Amino acid sequence: MYKKIDLSMEFLGIRLENPFILSAAPPTDEFDIAYNGLKAGWGGVILKTTSVEGNSVPLKYPMMSSFGSMSRKVIGLGNIDLISGYHIDEIEKRVKILKEVFPEKMIGASIMGAKKEDWQTLVGRLKKAGVDLIECSFSCPQGSMGEEAGRMLAQSIEATEKVARWVKEAAEDTPVLIKITPQVTDIVEVAKAVKKGGADGITASNTIPSLLGIDINTFEPYPSLFGKGAYSGLSGPAIKPITLRTIAEIAKNVDITISGNGGAFNWRDVVEFMSVGASNVQFCTLPMHYGFRTIKDLKRGFAHYLSDMGFNSPLDVVGKALPNIKSQDELPSPKTRAELVEEKCVGCGLCYSACSDGGHMAIDWDSEKRLPHFDEEKCVGCAMCMQVCPVDAIKMNEKIENSNNVHYFVEKR
Ligand SMILES: Cc1cc2nc3c(=O)[nH]c(=O)nc-3n(C[C@H](O)[C@H](O)[C@H](O)COP(=O)(O)O)c2cc1C
Ligand code: SF4
Ligand code: SF4
Repeated sequence: MYKKIDLSMEFLGIRLENPFILSAAPPTDEFDIAYNGLKAGWGGVILKTTSVEGNSVPLKYPMMSSFGSMSRKVIGLGNIDLISGYHIDEIEKRVKILKEVFPEKMIGASIMGAKKEDWQTLVGRLKKAGVDLIECSFSCPQGSMGEEAGRMLAQSIEATEKVARWVKEAAEDTPVLIKITPQVTDIVEVAKAVKKGGADGITASNTIPSLLGIDINTFEPYPSLFGKGAYSGLSGPAIKPITLRTIAEIAKNVDITISGNGGAFNWRDVVEFMSVGASNVQFCTLPMHYGFRTIKDLKRGFAHYLSDMGFNSPLDVVGKALPNIKSQDELPSPKTRAELVEEKCVGCGLCYSACSDGGHMAIDWDSEKRLPHFDEEKCVGCAMCMQVCPVDAIKMNEKIENSNNVHYFVEKR
């Protein structure tokens, strides 16, 4: 039976009505849009990254391109956006109004500065305006201000620690999140630097530097601005696996609060992000694509999940999957073999091609019956055939030595 679940929780001392936050991006760049998002039911906002007055933000349009396939046009979104064109004077006003209208919501702001004075001025002014939380963008894929041109601040361990310390010094008891990039050799070292710098938490992560595509007739990159293009920041479902790994790796190695961000598209993704260590989840591409109404599904689906699982609070999910994430050499070595579920098979032959040229030549093709036959001796149980079968007609069975037990490995996606 469904038990009504209260989705509210504590995050760095802030009460969140639910763990779904609008990240620093277009959905929080215009006052009216951020207002509408909060009104629609999102637990909080992080206003798009702002800077000190006079800092020029040379935005170029069109700034968006999509990465997808025939069946789904937007698996990922690439943008060449920069930080907000609105400076701190405007953001101060917005924080004050939003806090007044929505006292029960988390009103956060994101900042980026070039020098110590900028970072600390931004923090001081936001604090005065009544912000609940400050996020620092150390990971704009188009490059951060303050380090070498084009380099992201979070790609330097030293700069990360130094700037985190400047910010926290000025923020005092206001919580500070450092938004990092997975585009580094060792994410754990970056997370340790954030902690050493005294920041309260990490936003893991941001968009990922990418090249969205090339027109094969004109050789123009996407998005193309009169034939020229730039590397863009990839967001959306395409980057979810990278985010999951980033969060897990930080959570397993550094004791610090994490806000998950990058590729979450539904309540199941939220569960996955939280199960590997995030305490809440930020969204950008989902509301940009399908609108703020998506919060209803997130809340409903997540609450039902918690009830079905016998959990009482969103925080009960945090870190649940971490003990199961091991290094390859720590994994068990079951003997698995592919097995056909004949009644499901539609005779497409995809498994045969996959095993012939990318497996272990363990499938024979019966062209009369249009059915695959699996050779138990040759099959090593790599599961490639199972991945390509369009109708889930292949199971991997696991034979336990010295017993008649046969387990089926069920790939759930
Ligand atoms: C058009 C666009 C502009 C963005 N601008 C900012 C920004 O100003 N500051 C920032 O920290 N992140 C920015 N982001 C990154 C998002 O906040 C978020 O980290 C990223 O999109 C990954 O989350 P998602 O997969 O849910 O979209 C931007 C993303 C997009 C798509
Ligand atoms: S599990 Fe691997 S080796 Fe076995 S039949 Fe499938 S693709 Fe071939
Ligand atoms: S891929 Fe699946 S449906 Fe196609 S032949 Fe193999 S088992 Fe049958």
